[in-house]
Amino acid sequence: MDFNIDSWLNLVIRWFHVMAGIMWIGTSFFFIWLDNVLQPEPEGGKGHVGKAWLFHGGGFYQVEKSLVAPASILNSLHWFKWEAYVTWLSGFALLIVVYWWRADLYMIDPTVANLSVAQSIGIGLGALVVGWLVYDGLWRALGERAPKLALGISLALYVAVAYALTHLLSGRAAFMMSGAMLGTIMAANVAMVIMPNQRKMYAAATAGGEADPRLSYQAKRRSTHNNYLTLPVIFMMISNHFSMTWGHAMNWLVLVAMFVVGIGVDHFLNSRDKGNKGVGYAALAAACAVLFAAIVFTAARAPSAPTADAATTNAPVAFASVQGIFATRCVECHSVHPTSKLFPIAPNGMKFDTPAEIKLAAAKIKLMAIDTNAMPLGNLTQMTADERATLAAWLAQGAPIPSAMTAR
Ligand code: HEC
Repeated sequence: MDFNIDSWLNLVIRWFHVMAGIMWIGTSFFFIWLDNVLQPEPEGGKGHVGKAWLFHGGGFYQVEKSLVAPASILNSLHWFKWEAYVTWLSGFALLIVVYWWRADLYMIDPTVANLSVAQSIGIGLGALVVGWLVYDGLWRALGERAPKLALGISLALYVAVAYALTHLLSGRAAFMMSGAMLGTIMAANVAMVIMPNQRKMYAAATAGGEADPRLSYQAKRRSTHNNYLTLPVIFMMISNHFSMTWGHAMNWLVLVAMFVVGIGVDHFLNSRDKGNKGVGYAALAAACAVLFAAIVFTAARAPSAPTADAATTNAPVAFASVQGIFATRCVECHSVHPTSKLFPIAPNGMKFDTPAEIKLAAAKIKLMAIDTNAMPLGNLTQMTADERATLAAWLAQGAPIPSAMTAR
């Protein structure tokens, strides 16, 4: 029996994490949308902000936003915090199971920086803690006096973090840790600002008084930040499936670009809901332009990739040498019977035992082992630059295999 505990933990926690994340992001978008469509009523009483009528699931809902609440409803208030906490906790568990458990494979790329396992995890954990402390300190200091300045500094700091992480960790880990840092900021916004402020508002309402309106203002701002971070974070969470992003030689720029795309799309949604259609479409157009630029940029070969163009003009590469490379560098994992203890089953079903299997996967092999250094994973099998160049040349020549070997 093959019992693969880490794969099962990975699956169950991931399932849970995605589910919690959907609920959190769903409520975030719902409330931001609601705030954008609320209409103030002239006869609205003290603390009145606005009202909206909604139609869903066969019923009409009347929603009113107010900064004060009658004491009579306080016991039946719905708070919306567990979505955030559960998403963060399951995400942190997943980070440990997938990335930190096998930090040697997933966190470290010796061609980026020669780190120890402890150093790589320390950098990851440091990003989470320091990221929050700096962000929170910045907004506490400048949030009310100079919010535009705080925003500018926050964005500049994010670019610096993206640059630093991609120059310390493996590409995929850098993307994931940048997402985990933003996710931590989002969850901490709930736990450390929104909830404490709401508790103070609640206490004021219980005492029959009125809370400082700044409490509401601060909570709303953090909640808006959270909303703007959702789309970039979702990209970072799914990015590990897309090596053309994190595997690019200038992956920090790709990361920043995708961050901007996410923010732009969110700004489009929010501006449109507020009735600022012009701003919304401008943001959408900018997001599309950046996305297009990122696609063109990643399609151009990464500067570090072996140049096959020169090699193609040379003599044809003998398939025997190509097969030798697969046998020594890849089939340890990618085989019907992998010898790797880590991967008892061929990852993604990708097997390179026969010439036909290798040829069939040529495009994916180019993406994972030539355009990027994603494979061999963690370069565990110590593939050399010469071998990559040989493989690149063979692929550029159309990945020919001897006709007698075409049967799978
Ligand atoms: C130590 C184990 C290991 C070795 C050695 C290894 N791989 Fe992989 N490979 C994986 C894992 C695990 C995945 C699954 C995706 C991931 O985790 O990135 C994968 C995925 C892939 C994919 C992507 C399949 C898809 O569906 O997109 C390709 C292509 C690939 N490997 C090619 C190679 C090539 C070529 C080599 C040798 C030069 C190689 N691998 C060596 C573990 C390995």
